[in-house]
Amino acid sequence: MLQYHLRSLRRLLIALLLFSTLMILVNTTFFSTPSSTNSNQTRLDSGNIIFDKKNEVKKTELLKLKFSLAKRFIRRPWADHPDCSNFTIRRTVERNLPPVALASFPGSGNTWVRGLIEAASGIYTGSIYKDANLYLHGFWGELADWDAGVTCVQKTHDSGADHIKSFSGGRSIFLNRNPYEAILSFHNFLYGGHTGHAPSSNFQRPEWPDFLVDQTRRWLATAVNWTQYSSDLLTIHYEDLKENPRPHLRRILHFLQLPVDERRLDCIQKHPPKKFHRKSRTDGQWDTNRVFPKRIRPLLDRAIRYVDYLTRKTGNGAIPVDRYSYYNKSSWKGPQPSRLAENQTWIEWISDQWGFRVESFLKDPLTNMLQEEAKTNIFYSWKIPFESKYAESNDLERDFNSGPPLFIQRIHLEKSPTKVP
Ligand SMILES: *[C@@H]1O[C@H](CO)[C@@H](O)[C@H](O)[C@H]1NC(C)=O
Ligand SMILES: *[C@@H]1O[C@H](CO)[C@@H](O)[C@H](O)[C@H]1NC(C)=O
Ligand SMILES: *[C@@H]1O[C@H](CO)[C@@H](O)[C@H](O)[C@H]1NC(C)=O
Ligand SMILES: *[C@@H]1O[C@H](CO)[C@@H](O)[C@H](O)[C@H]1NC(C)=O
Ligand SMILES: *[C@@H]1O[C@H](CO)[C@@H](O)[C@H](O)[C@H]1NC(C)=O
Repeated sequence: MLQYHLRSLRRLLIALLLFSTLMILVNTTFFSTPSSTNSNQTRLDSGNIIFDKKNEVKKTELLKLKFSLAKRFIRRPWADHPDCSNFTIRRTVERNLPPVALASFPGSGNTWVRGLIEAASGIYTGSIYKDANLYLHGFWGELADWDAGVTCVQKTHDSGADHIKSFSGGRSIFLNRNPYEAILSFHNFLYGGHTGHAPSSNFQRPEWPDFLVDQTRRWLATAVNWTQYSSDLLTIHYEDLKENPRPHLRRILHFLQLPVDERRLDCIQKHPPKKFHRKSRTDGQWDTNRVFPKRIRPLLDRAIRYVDYLTRKTGNGAIPVDRYSYYNKSSWKGPQPSRLAENQTWIEWISDQWGFRVESFLKDPLTNMLQEEAKTNIFYSWKIPFESKYAESNDLERDFNSGPPLFIQRIHLEKSPTKVP
């Protein structure tokens, strides 16, 4: 059975590869002549994009936004909607835009936000990862070098100080999402890629709570580093954007010093981008106390309050905690999604959608991540610098700076058994 699934997966991948090669050939052969059309929708005379050789933004010098003429990189996000079909997404010419990070903890909707930014600005977004899968789905800025200056923001999940500074000295949009949901979404990604789901049996596993604590620390450390090391920071809350994208997309465009085209924002409102949206699963499928054990919820809540403190401190507004599911003993606050067919498990449902069982050809990512951290021991050697004047700092120290969770500690013990004298 497994053999069969692997074989069909391989066939699918080969077909995909052939198809994409063909498309690239077709594109380069037939469409590579420079386009001279200068349609109104792509004429963005922003006149305020500045970029010099040192990757630094100089607000005094003005440079015009210039687009690449390669027609194969022109995408129409609303090709099927006549009222919006004229709008395009393009690359700029090299070194035209300063690198700006679009940073987030994984599972925070980074790809979704990229789609919105591309539609709103008409300029591709990039990424430090070069994910071919995203490229094949229309993110045509994905494979450009992240610092080539041809994309308006670049996705990253890394958060070392040097890395943050490499974006024009620390220019960043930090995308923040409720960790309760971001961690579940990341867990789904680990098992099912951009659109699939992890098996809910994982919630029964003994190391699940340790995975939660570990990921909560990572979520917190990501927010701490980006707020601490960015020199020019815009924090966007996923939940705000979800509720009403328009004002927040305006904030993003202003931050990027790109012109705001209200007609594009109208189109986003009328025809929101849908790609790479993981289908929601019903809350009723879970025992929430199993997914988020009682002893771990106060720790997640404290982490949320600390990030709320940090975002306020940097003048980036409060976290919309009233919309945070599970925060402060609350339950699921989102809309009720449509139910599964009766008796169908989630993994069966995914198998139906994808044609194979997602978890059968992957190693066990949940355990692997914890084992990897036990092996390198880098993550827990770095202490999160909580501000001592913050009311809950002692609790935070205890929750997050007093060593790795049990699963990792046990691996350490197995590696270095106590020597018998
Ligand atoms: C741009 O728009 C103006 C007025 O809306 C129109 O007259 C002109 O022909 C348009 N130019 C192009 C190149 O589409
Ligand atoms: C799109 O462009 C075409 C050709 O330039 C033009 O005829 C049409 O009116 C435009 N549509 C919209 C909605 O602007
Ligand atoms: C935060 O930054 C420090 C200093 O560069 C680094 O040691 C640490 O690993 C970073 N944390 C994360 C989660 O990237
Ligand atoms: C937690 O929820 C209760 C109501 O259930 C509310 O009174 C309290 O202010 C909330 N605390 C925080 C920190 O949000
Ligand atoms: C679901 O299971 C019940 C009992 O196991 C069975 O009676 C029912 O027919 C099943 N429904 C479907 C749609 O398979």
